[in-house]
Amino acid sequence: MTGIDDLPIRDELRGKSPYGAPQLDVPVRLNTNENPYPLPEPLVRRIGERVTEAARHLNRYPDRDAVELRTELARYLSRTGGHEVTKDQIWAANGSNEILQQLLQTFGGPGRTALGFEPSYSMHGLISRGTGTGWLSGPRNDDFTIDVEAARSAIAEHRPDVVFICSPNNPTGTAVEAGTVLALYEAAQAARAGTGGALVVVDEAYGEFSHRPSLLPLIEGRPNLVVSRTMSKAFGAAGLRLGYLAADPAVVDAVQLVRLPYHLSSVTQATALAALEHTDTLLKYVEQLKAERDRLVTELRAIGCEVTASDANFVQFGRFADAHAAWQAILDQGVLVRDNGVPGWLRVTAGTPAENDAFLDAVRTLCKERSPKENER
Ligand SMILES: Cc1ncc(COP(=O)(O)O)c(C=O)c1O
Repeated sequence: MTGIDDLPIRDELRGKSPYGAPQLDVPVRLNTNENPYPLPEPLVRRIGERVTEAARHLNRYPDRDAVELRTELARYLSRTGGHEVTKDQIWAANGSNEILQQLLQTFGGPGRTALGFEPSYSMHGLISRGTGTGWLSGPRNDDFTIDVEAARSAIAEHRPDVVFICSPNNPTGTAVEAGTVLALYEAAQAARAGTGGALVVVDEAYGEFSHRPSLLPLIEGRPNLVVSRTMSKAFGAAGLRLGYLAADPAVVDAVQLVRLPYHLSSVTQATALAALEHTDTLLKYVEQLKAERDRLVTELRAIGCEVTASDANFVQFGRFADAHAAWQAILDQGVLVRDNGVPGWLRVTAGTPAENDAFLDAVRTLCKERSPKENER
């Protein structure tokens, strides 16, 4: 039988695995950082109206520049991100993964490199490879914060073209201080002085769940700094596929060089606009999820687990001698969490109170069955 590696694929893709969080049919799914709440009915109806109107014009290509949507995204960020932005500073695509891909197609590519601080969002490395960009893994401290001095040295040594800073970081939940972003931005520009500098991408997919303010204001006066956002998490619209970036207008102009014409369908634009009309209702769910996230932290600690401080809608917990066996034991009780391959640790997404109770019960059972020592590294 022909396998992938028998095909004339690019050398750097040989032997690699695709992104693949398991999509298993179990009662409680807390493994992909989705929002557990379905969209409210009034919003579902509004999407129906907006999409019906868009359907009347589906014989035409969509607005290639998504002007109305970018205007509304700019309004939302200006209201919630602590910094005024205009539509010229916003670009939108099919999920923030596509935003990251367009950035790497524009600023990375063959002969160039991207650096991230792992463990972090695995797609940073995968999209880098997919765009022919060399991937470099930088260090973190034991508590999963970024080791600024080690990061500066890695940047000075490798002179990456793109630096990823994920805040709050997936899968650890760790938020990054503005001072750290500024230090790494300066280091990245200094390392590539004379070449136009390096692009620093702040991935704020979970920004709305953070205890800290957004890092958005840092784009002011820093043309090589991009903040990437998504409607998949806080807006509860993972199925919509809508991500966006905020940056200097020159970055928005630059990604036009690689975006496919009419990449964002009229249906997507209409749906996202409807969701943005309901921002206040959707952000109330975010407050509930933050409270549930904090409850998970408290209760996991009471059970005897170690927990990484979380600014996201998920919690990293451990430490297990065999994290994969613990993952399986939790799954056997009908609860799907995520094994991100971080030795000793698993990640659980904050669900509804009932889902979180089911998860906590499963962990209690797991910890009762094993001696505490067995659960430690
Ligand atoms: C850190 C981070 N960035 C980006 C994404 C991609 O989100 P989307 O493509 O749904 O916008 C995710 C999804 O889990 C994520 O965890």
